[in-house]
Amino acid sequence: MTASPPAPGATADDDLVVRPAARLRGAPALPGDKSISHRSLLFALLAEGESRIVAAGDGEDVRSTARVVAAMGASVERGAEHDGRVDYVIRSPGGRALREPEDILDCGNSGTTARLTAGVLAGRPMFAVLDGDASLRRRPMDRIVEPLGRMGAGFAGRRGATLLPLAVTGHEVLAPITYDTPVPSAQVKSAILLAGLAADGETWVTEAVATRDHTERMLRARGVAVDEGVAPDGRHTVRVAGPSAVVAIDETVPADTSAAAFWLVAASIHPDAELHLAEVSTNPTRRAIIDILRRMGADITEHDRPAPGGADGEPLADLVVRSSRLRAIDLSPTDVAAAIDEIPVLALAAAAATGTTHIRGAGELRHKESDRLAGIVSGLAALGADVRIEGDDIEIHGGRPLTGSVTETYDDHRLAMTFAVAGLVAEGETIVRRPGSAAVSYPGFLRELEGVRA
Ligand code: S3P
Repeated sequence: MTASPPAPGATADDDLVVRPAARLRGAPALPGDKSISHRSLLFALLAEGESRIVAAGDGEDVRSTARVVAAMGASVERGAEHDGRVDYVIRSPGGRALREPEDILDCGNSGTTARLTAGVLAGRPMFAVLDGDASLRRRPMDRIVEPLGRMGAGFAGRRGATLLPLAVTGHEVLAPITYDTPVPSAQVKSAILLAGLAADGETWVTEAVATRDHTERMLRARGVAVDEGVAPDGRHTVRVAGPSAVVAIDETVPADTSAAAFWLVAASIHPDAELHLAEVSTNPTRRAIIDILRRMGADITEHDRPAPGGADGEPLADLVVRSSRLRAIDLSPTDVAAAIDEIPVLALAAAAATGTTHIRGAGELRHKESDRLAGIVSGLAALGADVRIEGDDIEIHGGRPLTGSVTETYDDHRLAMTFAVAGLVAEGETIVRRPGSAAVSYPGFLRELEGVRA
């Protein structure tokens, strides 16, 4: 009745075997929010002087950003490590005095590192090359190359500068633009806003759906005027006026809502569960997973905690989630955009729910760390779920009991954790192939999976 983390001496790529848990109890430790941690590090690079970051996520993605920040001239000091989190002290010469990196900037598996760093590089008079692992080299970069190119940055790379490795030639002063993002993407929005800090005038980004707003909140907290509004056509607008400097501040990173999602679903679909999740970000642009699960009948209580950092700080709450009987749900493309990283584990929730769930307009999942549409379907189908793809939609006929089987993760952290959670309720043994990618966003996940067994 135990999950087996890799045996001592084994590689992280050894299969994980998960057996059903009789009960789920406890308070799994959560990593610091990944999106916020990336931004804390990059904004500390832009700010002259010392920035302290407390309880950042210590997954491989955030470490990639820390390496990039060091390569561009900041001193990066790692402090205390605790439960998959780490404190940093960053000392930077400031955005105007960044160093041209001597080597390629290896962004590992992290799309956020690559795309946000491109936004910083665009506005600096230097040459740099962004690269990443095999997965990141497959992910589309045209979505940032196009707007940043319009602002004046030069790009060269594979397939017409649409794929990494990508060479960037930045400029001291960029042209401001107004850009309507074709796909809702916080990474694209953030890259343009960061380039906008070096532009001569107002840069506007409009998006069909308001994506996560950490860049906006965190730049405001660092002295940058960032305005948000609604255009006459209903699009969400964000404006930044350049040139603008970023001020150094100290910051505590809340727990990652997207990591909490695995426990919210685990407890909701397990017949005997109660899990406590402390100080989770309930930012309105990140909390969709909580609200969607509630719409499905989940039993989640929320106790607000005082938000550090005033009005622009992240709202926080302690969450308690208990067993429930989930019902099917219809998710619109807007729901999908709001819960983009949680769709794999939501699909598992739908497989355990009664009725037929439709998840509409999920094509963007093909461009994540793996083709998540294909990965969700193959993994859940292997466990006996009735799940299919129709175009960009996922249809799940829920309620069939799940049976342990072999699930492929394609080295995608969110698929690995989704199938590990499935193993807590599936009958027999669930084998999760190559589970090591969980450390990309949640380094303590396998330990916590063991810990929540009562
Ligand atoms: C992120 C934005 C989202 C999300 C990713 C993190 C961010 O990506 O999927 O995990 O921190 O800005 P897109 O902007 O590609 O939707």
